[in-house]
Amino acid sequence: MIYAANFKTNHTRKSTENYIEDLQRKLVDKNEEDRVFIFPPLTALDAYEGDFIIGAQNAYPVESGAYTGEVGVEQLAEFNINTILIGHSERRDILGESQEAVAKKFAFFKEQGFEIIYCIGESLEIREQGLEAVIEHLVSQFEGIDTTYENFMVAYEPIWAIGTGRTASVEEITMTHDALKKVVDKPLLYGGSVKGANIAQIAAIDNVDGVLVGGASLKTETFLELVLH
Ligand code: PGA
Repeated sequence: MIYAANFKTNHTRKSTENYIEDLQRKLVDKNEEDRVFIFPPLTALDAYEGDFIIGAQNAYPVESGAYTGEVGVEQLAEFNINTILIGHSERRDILGESQEAVAKKFAFFKEQGFEIIYCIGESLEIREQGLEAVIEHLVSQFEGIDTTYENFMVAYEPIWAIGTGRTASVEEITMTHDALKKVVDKPLLYGGSVKGANIAQIAAIDNVDGVLVGGASLKTETFLELVLH
C-alpha cells in the first residue's frame, strides 16, 4: 500500500519537523513494502531522510526564472525533492489550472524524471449522472498526459468527498477503480475523507493500491492509524 499525506495549507516548518520526527520513530512498525509520502507546504520542505518520501504539493514547470510567487526545479533540488502532486482538484478548481496547464506540468516533470502523483476526480454533479459520465470525465483528465510514463501513479479523488467527511462507498470506489485500471495500468490511490474508521474497508478493495489523505494526515496519530491499520 501507498500512504500519501497531503498537508495542503497546514503546518509550519517547525510543526512539520516535529511531525516528521515523531512519524519516523513510529514508522519502524510499518510493512516493509508500504510506501509513505509526505507533501508539506513549500515553506516546510527540507532534505529529510527516513522511511518516507517528501514531495512538493506544487511547483511551476521551469528550472528557474521570472515567475513571481512560484518555485521551480532549482528550489526543489536544494532539498532533493523529486516527487510532485499534479492536478489536485483544489489547484484545478480554486487556482484555475486548466487541463492544458496540468498536462504541461506533467510533461515537464516527467522530463525531469520526477515521481508524479497525478490527481483526477469528478464533481457531485457529474457523479449524479452515473458511472459512465464519471469515467468519461476522468478519462478527459488524461488529455495530454503520457500515461506510459513509468514513474507515476494516479490518485482518484471525487471532489465531493474531499474534506467533506463523505467518503465514496466501497461500491463506488470499486467500480471507478476497476474502470480506471483498464484505462491506465498504474498504481491507483483513492482520496477523499480517508480516515481510521474507513481505511480497512478501502484498503481491502482490489484495485486500490494506496490512499491520498488530507485531514486525517495532519496529526501523526491519525495518519499512523492508516499506515499501521
Ligand atoms: P481529505 O483530502 O482527506 O481531507 O478529504 C484528500 C485530498 O484532497 O487529497
